[in-house]
Amino acid sequence: MSILGKFLTLVIAIFATLASTHYITTPSPNSSLLKQEYQYYYHHLIDNLFSGLTTLSSSSPPIITTLLEPISQLLYGQSHHNLKHNLKELIRVGGSICDDFPPDIPPSDTNTTSFLCVDPNGCCNYTTVQSAVDAVVGGVPTLNKRTMIWINSGIYFEKVIVPRTKPNITFQGQGYLSTAIVWNDTANSSHGTFYSGSVQIFAANFIAKNISFMNVAPIPSPGAVGAQAVAIRIAGDQAAFWGCGFFGAQDTLHDDRGRHYFKDCYIQGSIDFIFGNARSLYESCQLSSIANPVALGAKVINGVVTAHGRASKDENSGFSFVNCSVGGTGRIWLGRAWRPFSTVVFAYTQMTDIIAPEGWNDFNDPTRDQTVFYGEYMCGGAGANMTLRVPYAQRLNDTQVSPFLNASFIDADQWLQQ
Ligand SMILES: *[C@@H]1O[C@H](CO)[C@@H](O)[C@H](O)[C@H]1NC(C)=O
Ligand SMILES: *[C@@H]1O[C@H](CO)[C@@H](O)[C@H](O)[C@H]1NC(C)=O
Ligand SMILES: *[C@@H]1O[C@H](CO)[C@@H](O)[C@H](O)[C@H]1NC(C)=O
Ligand SMILES: *[C@@H]1O[C@H](CO)[C@@H](O)[C@H](O)[C@H]1NC(C)=O
Ligand SMILES: *[C@@H]1O[C@H](CO)[C@@H](O)[C@H](O)[C@H]1NC(C)=O
Ligand SMILES: *[C@@H]1O[C@H](CO)[C@@H](O)[C@H](O)[C@H]1NC(C)=O
Ligand SMILES: *[C@@H]1O[C@H](CO)[C@@H](O)[C@H](O)[C@H]1NC(C)=O
Ligand SMILES: *[C@@H]1O[C@H](CO)[C@@H](O)[C@H](O)[C@H]1NC(C)=O
Ligand SMILES: *[C@@H]1O[C@H](CO)[C@@H](O)[C@H](O)[C@H]1NC(C)=O
Ligand SMILES: *[C@@H]1O[C@H](CO)[C@@H](O)[C@H](O)[C@H]1NC(C)=O
Ligand SMILES: *[C@@H]1O[C@H](CO)[C@@H](O)[C@H](O)[C@H]1NC(C)=O
Repeated sequence: MSILGKFLTLVIAIFATLASTHYITTPSPNSSLLKQEYQYYYHHLIDNLFSGLTTLSSSSPPIITTLLEPISQLLYGQSHHNLKHNLKELIRVGGSICDDFPPDIPPSDTNTTSFLCVDPNGCCNYTTVQSAVDAVVGGVPTLNKRTMIWINSGIYFEKVIVPRTKPNITFQGQGYLSTAIVWNDTANSSHGTFYSGSVQIFAANFIAKNISFMNVAPIPSPGAVGAQAVAIRIAGDQAAFWGCGFFGAQDTLHDDRGRHYFKDCYIQGSIDFIFGNARSLYESCQLSSIANPVALGAKVINGVVTAHGRASKDENSGFSFVNCSVGGTGRIWLGRAWRPFSTVVFAYTQMTDIIAPEGWNDFNDPTRDQTVFYGEYMCGGAGANMTLRVPYAQRLNDTQVSPFLNASFIDADQWLQQ
């Protein structure tokens, strides 16, 4: 990994944990080594980074402290106020900012793929993700082309929208801990939860690889109104996410509608952190709760993994989790019935003891007990003990679970390509 990559990995790892005010699991590299490496960092990067961080800091002091203190303590044993100044002094400005930029990026267009390239330091055509999306030629169904937007390591402080008229776009990042699109809207600041997404995908056939989507709005206290903060809304059909990160607290991943595939993804949140009415398969994903830790034996519930929103029998939406893991902090349910026909299956998934024994919730509407479909199959770990589950949770048999177990669940043969 390049020096730049290492630095960003550190910063994004801290971002990723910022939502958790309790644990900072920052890696602790050798700080004198880091100091030397800093001398090679591009001063523009530092500028961009800190203009972003400084802006964010004004609105959310506790969070910015969480974010910056580990870096500044690590490097200098001093507060973050002096960090920018000192970093800039350390930077030896020599050579071009783009010397390390890969020479073969962007590749030439082929018959089937156009390439666009985003770099925060201006080493290729676009400096923001949205400007690259804006440059994609949309609305020409006959083109039958994919546009690959190659996005260099960096934290992109912007709100990104991929409109319905621009199908077949790929976001290719450099790793979910080194490339991230970050914003901080809330339900209040954006006329509703549905519009709070840092990234919003309305187009079909969207693909993202090795990139993170984050919402860094302040963590709401329990019961707060209007504080939901979506990291991404996926409202286009046939979308796929490989090796991606989704970071937020309440309502992180708005898996809104259409057929979607998630592979090897990391999804963090607190309440209803995967919600929506899509038909989605999550394979080998890590689901991480950041709800407040709860004393052993306490009855309080302070988080929920899913809130699936299927409203009627006639829809065929549902969330299926296969070979995933559920862990983190708090005392949480696997799902609650946002709408009457809420449909969620966990198979071959490891669950820690943060899962409350009853497992599921009907949204305080007992009539939904008859209509929801909540299934578990061959799961493991302390949280998977079904003895005390709500009566409407089903231990599925082989026949019942089979439609949920592979990519045929989302008609993948019609569209899913690696
Ligand atoms: C940290 O790195 C420096 C420079 O490479 C080295 O001299 C020092 O021994 C390292 N310290 C530790 C604790 O590894
Ligand atoms: C997001 O951050 C900006 C810049 O610091 C701030 O002005 C804004 O109030 C924040 N929005 C929310 C909803 O916290
Ligand atoms: C791409 O287009 C060129 C020119 O039209 C054609 O010669 C070539 O065979 C095409 N390649 C593929 C792989 O279709
Ligand atoms: C992108 O940049 C390259 C070289 O920097 C330039 O030749 C090309 O015209 C640019 N393309 C667009 C679409 O701006
Ligand atoms: C998008 O891809 C699909 C499937 O490959 C294709 O049918 C469609 O024509 C493409 N759309 C555009 C605008 O290229
Ligand atoms: C994504 O990152 C992983 C791990 O760094 C790497 O093995 C893989 O090749 C990358 N894939 C893509 C499509 O970028
Ligand atoms: C959202 O707006 C409502 C009504 O104005 C207010 O009561 C609430 O405190 C706001 N929430 C946040 C998180 O700012
Ligand atoms: C299950 O998930 C683990 C951890 O993510 C992964 O290493 C393993 O390959 C997955 N197994 C299958 C069959 O996909
Ligand atoms: C499952 O939970 C029940 C009730 O708490 C308990 O009696 C049983 O020992 C547990 N089973 C396992 C395998 O831990
Ligand atoms: C699985 O469960 C369904 C519904 O309860 C039942 O109709 C079916 O016979 C079961 N199949 C097997 C193989 O046990
Ligand atoms: C996927 O599962 C279905 C059963 O629902 C089965 O018919 C099909 O053969 C499976 N496909 C693959 C590729 O395993």
